[in-house]
Amino acid sequence: MSEVIEMLIRRGFLWQSFEIYGGMAGFIDYGPLGNGLRRKLENLWREYFVVNERAVEIDTPTIGVEDIYIASGHATSFTDVAIECKKCGRVYRADHYIKEKLGIEADETVESVKEIIDSFGLKCECEGEFYEPKPLNLMFKTKIGPGRGKKGYLRPETAQGIFIAFKRIADYFRGCLPFGVAQIGRAYRNEISPRQGVIRLREFNQAELEFFVHPDERSHPGFSIYANDRVKLVDKNGREHNLTLKEAIEKRIIPNQILAYFMGKTRRFLIKAGIDDAKLRFRQHRDDERAHYASDCWDAEALTSYGWIEIVGIADRGDYDLCRHSKYSGEDLSVFVPFKEPVRVKRRKIFPKMNKIGPVFRQRAKRISELLSSVEAPLDVEYVELEIDGETLRVDREFFDIREVEEEIHGEKVFPHVIEPSFGLDRITFAVLEHSFDRDIIEGEERRVLRLKRCIAPVQVAVLPLLSKKNFEEKAREITVMLKNAGIFTEYDDSGSIGRRYRRFDEIGTPFCVTVDHQTLEDNTVTIRDRDTTRQIRIELTALVPALNELLATEKDISEFGVIFKE
Ligand code: ATP
Ligand code: GLY
Repeated sequence: MSEVIEMLIRRGFLWQSFEIYGGMAGFIDYGPLGNGLRRKLENLWREYFVVNERAVEIDTPTIGVEDIYIASGHATSFTDVAIECKKCGRVYRADHYIKEKLGIEADETVESVKEIIDSFGLKCECEGEFYEPKPLNLMFKTKIGPGRGKKGYLRPETAQGIFIAFKRIADYFRGCLPFGVAQIGRAYRNEISPRQGVIRLREFNQAELEFFVHPDERSHPGFSIYANDRVKLVDKNGREHNLTLKEAIEKRIIPNQILAYFMGKTRRFLIKAGIDDAKLRFRQHRDDERAHYASDCWDAEALTSYGWIEIVGIADRGDYDLCRHSKYSGEDLSVFVPFKEPVRVKRRKIFPKMNKIGPVFRQRAKRISELLSSVEAPLDVEYVELEIDGETLRVDREFFDIREVEEEIHGEKVFPHVIEPSFGLDRITFAVLEHSFDRDIIEGEERRVLRLKRCIAPVQVAVLPLLSKKNFEEKAREITVMLKNAGIFTEYDDSGSIGRRYRRFDEIGTPFCVTVDHQTLEDNTVTIRDRDTTRQIRIELTALVPALNELLATEKDISEFGVIFKE
């Protein structure tokens, strides 16, 4: 167990779920500190990807009826290749096992895995041989309702809830592209062999934004904000680049501004959350690696003790999802996009002959006439085939005329394209914790310190009475209430020496400690101690809340709020 994980468990950030029943790989509980940290990350994400976008946030069920996942392709294509040992029965995710044992990137196909196993004679850790590799679907199946019920799945991504509610959301935006729809919530994947502790979970937290744009749109009005940001890129052929986003577009490494905009924004968000830019890169999926719905995908990867891990996937899903759900549900999920100026076009149109259709088709005559009117007519056509009540009906030429008409067209129906930044909050939380973990020497002693960004620290301020005496404690409790009332996440602690208490709060990443000492009781001042530098200032109690609020919202140094009296 790594030192960071040991600390996270000991200090109550997280631990394995179901511990008293022996635990189960792929599930973690967030304790008080981990939960606080992840919630703060969520709020920061909201600020970046909802509040400061043309976007809204929705919340949809975590269980979905089977139809959704047949349409989305997950029921057939959301698979990983698994290999099972004939001797010990252990099952591995094939590409991970091959990478671990042979250092090879295997294509995620049964054929490629089989070829590698055969040619390298790859065996299980127990030396047993493997059965034939086979694809395993990662979705958790369930049944909705009693008796036979209806088949359902736990959602493997929050995104589908957005696509299937698209019509309502498009109405909310009055069909006006572009717009974004976000969702934060649980997703579930029955991962084959989740051996990487906290980063490969079977129940995890996603924050996803589906950004809907006109299919011809390639630019983003906000791109200039990030155009000169320098990023580390690994393209789909494995070539590394260190370029500004603008250069990456000019060199056609990133295909358009919309993807680049979200890569830039993702990078800034991750840095703000505490990811070390030197341990961050964007890697483009290889052609054999992309999900079934994506035409391009860039992963933000963070370097951790598990190596480079994907923490965000930014995919171009095109119109895949909206077209599939339109086809499978029968609902038209396109939007009408008005032209700037109406255009006049000539077209050949079918005119139903009602005097002929009526007597022959009787009660279906009206429907046939409507359908005929909506058919574009080519030059020569002897008959038209219409789909009515699940049946294909042939309507011969004697039932309609074809004439050329000139019409004014005001717009067109399109299926918007989707760019999707998809964030795994658990992996980001873990990477932030690892990147923030540090050691230094204070007063000749080694200390462990979590240099969390102030805005996401689960405990922002600790209030500490210097001595365990009634008057010190009463004052410190009073100040704790005052800070909590001001919305600051505050903890009171009076146990142990002041030095030990400072260390305790350093280790969980608390940016500031406020100490009540002898002078407090005389002149209503307290000290503020900065976690990173351990420097202290003295400040009037009346100025404490505004000073802390400003310190927590910015990267300002405490020296801006008082004279440093202790280095
Ligand atoms: P991987 O290749 O690591 O299995 P993925 O490509 O399947 O990940 P996506 O499908 O792109 O991941 O999911 C979007 C995001 O959700 C990922 O960037 C990741 O942060 C998170 N995520 C995916 N699977 C898991 C998991 N099993 N546990 C925790 N987070 C996950
Ligand atoms: N929505 C992207 C994914 O979860 O795969």
